[in-house]
Amino acid sequence: MKILVIGGGNMGMTYAEAMAKSSFLKKKELMILDTNPQKIEELENMDIFDVHSDLKTCLPQADIVFLAVKPYHAEELMEDMKPFISEEQMFVSIMAGVTINSMQESLGMPKVVRAMPNLPAQVGKGVTSFTASDEVSRVELSTIERILATTGKAIHLDTENDIDASTGISGSGPAYIFYFMQSMIEAALKMGFSDHDSRVLVGQTFEGAIELFNSSDLSPRSWMDRVASKGGTTRAALDSMEDNNVRELISEAAHAAFERAVELGKEYENTHA
Ligand SMILES: NC(=O)c1ccc[n+]([C@@H]2O[C@H](COP(=O)([O-])OP(=O)(O)OC[C@H]3O[C@@H](n4cnc5c(N)ncnc54)[C@H](OP(=O)(O)O)[C@@H]3O)[C@@H](O)[C@H]2O)c1
Repeated sequence: MKILVIGGGNMGMTYAEAMAKSSFLKKKELMILDTNPQKIEELENMDIFDVHSDLKTCLPQADIVFLAVKPYHAEELMEDMKPFISEEQMFVSIMAGVTINSMQESLGMPKVVRAMPNLPAQVGKGVTSFTASDEVSRVELSTIERILATTGKAIHLDTENDIDASTGISGSGPAYIFYFMQSMIEAALKMGFSDHDSRVLVGQTFEGAIELFNSSDLSPRSWMDRVASKGGTTRAALDSMEDNNVRELISEAAHAAFERAVELGKEYENTHA
């Protein structure tokens, strides 16, 4: 099986490197294409991939094609791809807001997978949600799942609406965690801790909490109850958060991202109809 990654930027490289590290593919089975001369030189120096700068030399040989360019380059790229593609090939897009329908139309091909990765994919701890057009078989879906899971975990969802919803949870989610961390660091600074100590106090607290969470099936609420005793310090903080509706506000924020993902998909379809 040959895989081609188009776009050797942050996300394309994350997937390409993860696939290369897995036992999934042999070296020359993984092709990568970019148009940026500096990027091409960088990729060649890495000596991991079969590097290309021209669609004609790599696209016809690929069984699976990853599209990892910015959404505003998608339309032009797909137009350029048309002479070199065929119906058996699978096209996997990680481009935000580019819908399955618009890709099928632009490429004139049936087998399209739309995936939504997140930033921790860069450290092998990502979660990628994905859905596919009806023409992608079960066997092909499980191959895609294994490939996407080289960057962490992969979750197959039924519809593109689910992909937009997952954008509000896992896609944009890392930024919510950073928001919470930043707020705690600012609280620590206000209490008089140094930059270094604030970072250690907050960073290690997050890391420890996540490790505990992953060590059992307990819900976050159960963990909260374990930390907070009646009349104690943690309960005072949790009560303050509940009084200020923080939980509701986080849910609203996630929904705002979900709605924006839906809007972006519509905007893309309207401009490329
Ligand atoms: N970063 C994230 O956390 C994240 C999360 C979810 C989804 N995504 C999606 O991932 C996609 C890639 O994002 P990124 O941050 O990795 O972008 P990026 O760093 O800009 O990488 C894209 C690369 O593709 C190259 N390129 C542009 N047009 C091309 C073409 N026609 N053929 C081949 N290569 C081409 C670009 O070259 P130039 O620099 O010369 O343009 C650049 O090297 C986006 O669609 C984004 O929506 C990203």
